[in-house]
Amino acid sequence: MLLNSKVALITGSSRGIGRAIAMEFAREGASVVVNGRDENTVLDAAREIEQLSRPVLAVVADVTDEAQVRHMIDQTIAQFKKIDVLVNNAGGGGGVVSRSLEGTSLENWNNVIGLNLTSTFLCSRAVAEHMKRQRSGRIVNMASQAARGVGELSGVPYAAAKAGILGFTRQIAKELGPFGILVNAVAPAITISGPRIKKKWGQLDDEEKHNILGSIPLGYRLADVREIVNVVKFLSSDDASYITGATIDINGGRYMC
Ligand SMILES: NC(=O)c1ccc[n+]([C@@H]2O[C@H](COP(=O)([O-])OP(=O)(O)OC[C@H]3O[C@@H](n4cnc5c(N)ncnc54)[C@H](OP(=O)(O)O)[C@@H]3O)[C@@H](O)[C@H]2O)c1
Repeated sequence: MLLNSKVALITGSSRGIGRAIAMEFAREGASVVVNGRDENTVLDAAREIEQLSRPVLAVVADVTDEAQVRHMIDQTIAQFKKIDVLVNNAGGGGGVVSRSLEGTSLENWNNVIGLNLTSTFLCSRAVAEHMKRQRSGRIVNMASQAARGVGELSGVPYAAAKAGILGFTRQIAKELGPFGILVNAVAPAITISGPRIKKKWGQLDDEEKHNILGSIPLGYRLADVREIVNVVKFLSSDDASYITGATIDINGGRYMC
């Protein structure tokens, strides 16, 4: 198993891509910390992992809140005595009302930057001290195609936050590399991860959908969640032992278009 005996914390793992990552990590032998703000969905995800007979810790925490992040990492260390992998997955467009610059309120800007970028900073900083002590660790940050090109379902702050994650990834990869801590990012394109994205995709008209799908060199289709999970799993494993500061695009080749 690729992640045997690893301890992995996946933020925002009660639903969507994060939950699929948590399940796959458990199947690959990891002990998993699942997280989200809604207690019911966090506990539901934890129960699904328990059914795989893997150790699991359920933590209800808002990753934009410094004290809650600290407490989540403390709980992880108290339960498992170490942390091998952090996946900074929690994020999203924050219920975008307008995709234009002028339609973006300061409140929306701060919310989306907080949810995607500040959370990644807070969680990475909190695990770094433990990973440094261990002299090993993996951090995988969830960016987006919006960081490489433009966001098609999201607005200005989302593109800015996800682009910020790429710079953050490189900067801390350099700082933490000498401690055996590898830091990378993935940049997926649109992936139907659950009802939220399904609804947003459904709101595009047929021509917009056709233009997006038609520009994908690897075929007239969106990514499957598994295609995101597999790359995150690889970057979290010992197989990716000489990769740091990198961003892997998972977009069927759209970056080239
Ligand atoms: N799906 C796509 O098309 C796509 C493409 C590129 C990148 N991404 C990125 O991939 C990641 C996952 O996307 P997704 O589509 O799977 O999202 P999703 O289905 O909306 O799930 C988001 C998860 O994050 C949790 N979450 C949200 N805010 C949180 C907070 N403040 N603190 C802790 N947990 C929080 C949610 O639970 P609660 O709401 O209960 O807290 C949920 O578990 C995001 O970073 C997203 O930007 C997605």
